[in-house]
Amino acid sequence: MADVKSVLDVAALDFDQGLARLFDLVRIPSISTDPAHAGDCQEAAELVVEDLKAMGFEASVRPTPGRPMVVAHYTPKDASAKTPHLLFYGHYDVQPADPLDQWKTPPFEPTVKEDARGVMRMYGRGTADDKGQFMTFVEAARAWIAATGSLPIRATFLIEGEEESGSPSLIPFLKANSEELSCDAAFVCDTNMWDAKTPAITTRLRGLVHEEITITGPRIDLHSGMYGGPAMNPIRVLTKLIAALHDKSGRVTIPGFYDGVADLPKPTRKQWQSLKFSDKKFLGDVGLKAAAGEKGKSVLEQIWARPTAEVNGIWGGYTGAGTKTVLPSTAHAKLTFRLVGKQNPKKVLKAFQAFAKAHVPADCKITFSGRGGGSPATEIREDNPLITKAAKALKDEFRRDTVLMGSGGSIPICRSFKDILGMDSILVGFGLNDDAIHSPNEKYDLESFRRGIRSWIRIMGALAE
Ligand code: BES
Ligand code: MN
Repeated sequence: MADVKSVLDVAALDFDQGLARLFDLVRIPSISTDPAHAGDCQEAAELVVEDLKAMGFEASVRPTPGRPMVVAHYTPKDASAKTPHLLFYGHYDVQPADPLDQWKTPPFEPTVKEDARGVMRMYGRGTADDKGQFMTFVEAARAWIAATGSLPIRATFLIEGEEESGSPSLIPFLKANSEELSCDAAFVCDTNMWDAKTPAITTRLRGLVHEEITITGPRIDLHSGMYGGPAMNPIRVLTKLIAALHDKSGRVTIPGFYDGVADLPKPTRKQWQSLKFSDKKFLGDVGLKAAAGEKGKSVLEQIWARPTAEVNGIWGGYTGAGTKTVLPSTAHAKLTFRLVGKQNPKKVLKAFQAFAKAHVPADCKITFSGRGGGSPATEIREDNPLITKAAKALKDEFRRDTVLMGSGGSIPICRSFKDILGMDSILVGFGLNDDAIHSPNEKYDLESFRRGIRSWIRIMGALAE
């Protein structure tokens, strides 16, 4: 306990430098999905490695067929066989910053601003997802080492560079390095708090499947007067297919889609009902009024415990200035499915493809160009003793009970940690719903960063006991 107090004091004195280190990282546009930024991903990985080496970690940039991984190890000087060994995971890659014209400050020039209520925020792509988040445990480790000469636990840091693009290299990398990466458990810093004052541990994440489809009708674009009527328009086929994905009650109509989706257990439903959550505020904050998911399910249940079929993009025909009387040859859409429970990504993809084919008339053709793969949902048992330990450390910091919650997002690595390395993931994060991750003007509260660092200091201390 005495140690934790002195470590917290050191962290407080080093806060401004920590912010400067984070900003150096945010300045690098490490967008993993865009090959043009592969060099930036390399640079970000190198910056993290240099920093961890300077702290006394054995750290290296590990090449993969895609973006590199950062792996770093720390063994305390007086470590024994009983010293716990934990893995800490985050990702240095970020989403593209588009649409650029909607940013009030440049996405890769981190900027601190005070809002109307006096809350200090840092703006920039990756401040919340996930650079600001994973730097909380990096800074916590730095403070431990500075204050006491060592970490109180064995630690392995794994900082990925492909999380935002579906982690294509991850499974082979985990398999090839399973001995090196297997720890007692993994702590993942890539999720949210309940609200700005209340800490949370996330115990459910949804899975994810991607697909991309092209409908081809006539061989070439046609004059819509000469051919309109007899010639089938592929956009008409595509929109009809998309419209058929949901019924009136908001349920997905793909046969077999709900295989593996269980009803919410009664105690869980009760626990969620007891959380102070306002559907109205949640939707109101983004300019909406009415929940569009399955009728009869609460907003929390729709996000945390129900699967979805979403169209992420749709294009085809003429979309330039003015008008063009064209009957296009092709129409395209990108779709994703969020999965829950025991839904199988491969089966969902197959079921969708069969459904889509059945909606294409004889004269048109459909092709699928998704990358395949996908990840199933993750559920972590709430009675895991590490959850209990972390929840108490968070409570010590925030002076509020830690909420155990779900999340609608996906972090594919959590399932791979379990399936390949046999590790549970404990998801502790300090993001907020209004951080605008993946959106323009992404931000992270300075308090998220500060209390995140303090929380990890406490968690690391508690793990050593
Ligand atoms: N940090 C998010 C996941 C998340 C979002 C957790 C909101 C908690 C609240 C993560 O980086 C992310 O965005 N993941 C992608 C995964 C995908 C690209 C494979 C997602 O959920 O869309
Ligand atoms: Mn993330």
